[in-house]
Amino acid sequence: MNTAPPGIRAQETAVTHVEITPSILYFGTPVVLLTTENQDGTFNLAPMSSAWALGHTVVLGLGRDGQTAHNLGSRPDVVINLPAPAQWPAVERLAPLTGRNPVPSTKPDGCRFEPEKFAAAGLTGEPSHLVRPPRVAECPIQLEARAERVRPDVSGEFVIVEAVVRKVHADARVVVPGTDHIDPTAWSPLIYNFRHYFGLGPELGHSYRTQTPRGSHQVPA
Ligand SMILES: Cc1cc2nc3c(=O)[nH]c(=O)nc-3n(C[C@H](O)[C@H](O)[C@H](O)COP(=O)(O)O)c2cc1C
Repeated sequence: MNTAPPGIRAQETAVTHVEITPSILYFGTPVVLLTTENQDGTFNLAPMSSAWALGHTVVLGLGRDGQTAHNLGSRPDVVINLPAPAQWPAVERLAPLTGRNPVPSTKPDGCRFEPEKFAAAGLTGEPSHLVRPPRVAECPIQLEARAERVRPDVSGEFVIVEAVVRKVHADARVVVPGTDHIDPTAWSPLIYNFRHYFGLGPELGHSYRTQTPRGSHQVPA
């Protein structure tokens, strides 16, 4: 007899799930490239994917020992650059590099110090308007921001950064002409899905709150 509450399946029918203990929980978030200012006035560039937006605040989760976290603790200017899916090789070229010298023991094996990360990745810096670190010219969306709060996470291994966006630059090809809207059919983030890179698949539908509706993509009645 099914004694489970309404909407909850009885345990004996829930046969499709297994309990696992994965080493990571990176369930698919957009990759961003952060540019920050080093102590000597040069600039660091680092990929990360634990990023999400709350209004005009972007929340970033960063390893405590990385150069990016160190920089943001003292120099709050940051550019949050959003690469397109085709740029994943440049992102991956940055993956084993740190701007921290000497390399902290907490970094994974094979991680090495690299002071010239733009050149190492084959990317180009261009001046920002309101903050000191440069934008990544090749990234279709660039958010100039300021880290207003930097605090340790509950584990002590990471810092949580709340960065308030001050200026948005978008490649005209991903903007709905004559508006301030990103065209979701023209823009795709680069998604980091359990340490593999993906773009978006075809559109499935849209929220009732979209400002760029398309007739055939409403939720079915
Ligand atoms: C696709 C991708 C996503 C990553 N996501 C994160 C992340 O969310 N947080 C983090 O601290 N490091 C992340 N990393 C690892 C950092 O890029 C790496 O630790 C790098 O050495 C940091 O550079 P830095 O020490 O110069 O700041 C990611 C790396 C890649 C390639």
